[in-house]
Amino acid sequence: MLRVLGLDIGSYAAKATVLGGLAGRQAKLLGLGLAQLPLEGAPNREDDPAPARAAVSQAVKNLAASLRLSAKYVSASVGGDSVVVKKISLPAAGDSGLRAAILAEAEQGLPFPLAEASVSHQVLARDPDTGHLSVLLAAARNQAIRNRLEVMAEAGLKPAVIDVDGLALCNAYEFVNPGHGDNVVLADIGAGKIAVAVLHNGLPLVIRDEPGGGRNLTDDIGGRCNLSRPQAEAVKFGAEPAPNPGEAAEAVDRAAADWMAAVERVLAAARQEAADYQPSRICLSGGSSLIPGLADEFAKHFNIETQVFNPLLSAAYNPRKFDTEYLRHVGPQMAVSFGLALRKADFQ
Ligand SMILES: Nc1ncnc2c1ncn2[C@@H]1O[C@H](COP(=O)(O)OP(=O)(O)OP(=O)(O)O)[C@@H](O)[C@H]1O
Ligand SMILES: [Mg+2]
Repeated sequence: MLRVLGLDIGSYAAKATVLGGLAGRQAKLLGLGLAQLPLEGAPNREDDPAPARAAVSQAVKNLAASLRLSAKYVSASVGGDSVVVKKISLPAAGDSGLRAAILAEAEQGLPFPLAEASVSHQVLARDPDTGHLSVLLAAARNQAIRNRLEVMAEAGLKPAVIDVDGLALCNAYEFVNPGHGDNVVLADIGAGKIAVAVLHNGLPLVIRDEPGGGRNLTDDIGGRCNLSRPQAEAVKFGAEPAPNPGEAAEAVDRAAADWMAAVERVLAAARQEAADYQPSRICLSGGSSLIPGLADEFAKHFNIETQVFNPLLSAAYNPRKFDTEYLRHVGPQMAVSFGLALRKADFQ
């Protein structure tokens, strides 16, 4: 088994995490890095123009080199419109029958042709009496996977695993809270999308990305306060005072309302699957979860305990190598890359 570098290439920043000690379930943080991408929005776009990709690849290459680790194998992920994750129920079947049934199910309601997609699955549960299976399937557009592979190749990295953002988020949560069997909603609020995972008794019920995130908020602050994007972002981060604090605060309130509405849509979909589904906790992550007071807004709106999820705080680390304050600050933004770093390159 080889150690991998968990690499989350978002539309705003690439995040890298390397973990050791996973056999004992006490992760040790070995490497961590974040690089803002030069061309926001480029790597996840369908048309993914090559020059934009070259800039992203260079940033990823520099990021990987900055970790000064020998982990060259990478676990990366896809997300957004290019991915569908769904839970299906199937009658008992042998392995080959199972695969055929899964592909037939996958074809139903996919927003892209099955012929242009890669499908993988995981059996979640098997009814001991009937043999009925509960299966989680993930379908990703081949083009999105190819884009990831090309960035890695250009960055001199070797792909070991291609995961899905929402599933990596679930893995990070399960690793930090093993065997809790909770009803919890995970929401990773990035720059352009929110990866939402609804867990029912600890198992995925609905996993879906919704549009929305910090980019719209930056642009709204910029529009209301007549600021450039970098200036608006500095206001959003609290690094600069807002020229018009009332307008900036209103922009934040509106963004929070949009993000909560996105989570509500996914919760509604979860209740189609399990009518009485009621989460006991919401865990926020992603760069936009760093907005002060956001978790309180969620807690008030949903009337559910809401926390900001920081998987890094559960890992052991060398305090001479990593600054505790930095880990405290950046951990929520690293949640997907932490989940990716838990995967192993199981070829060799
Ligand atoms: N301290 C902070 N306060 C408020 N917002 C922040 C902070 N740090 C980062 N952000 C915002 O978080 C967003 C980036 O988060 P993240 O790195 O999770 O996104 P991403 O994974 O690149 O994007 P996506 O998942 O949407 O493709 C940006 O909109 C950024 O402005
Ligand atoms: Mg992201």
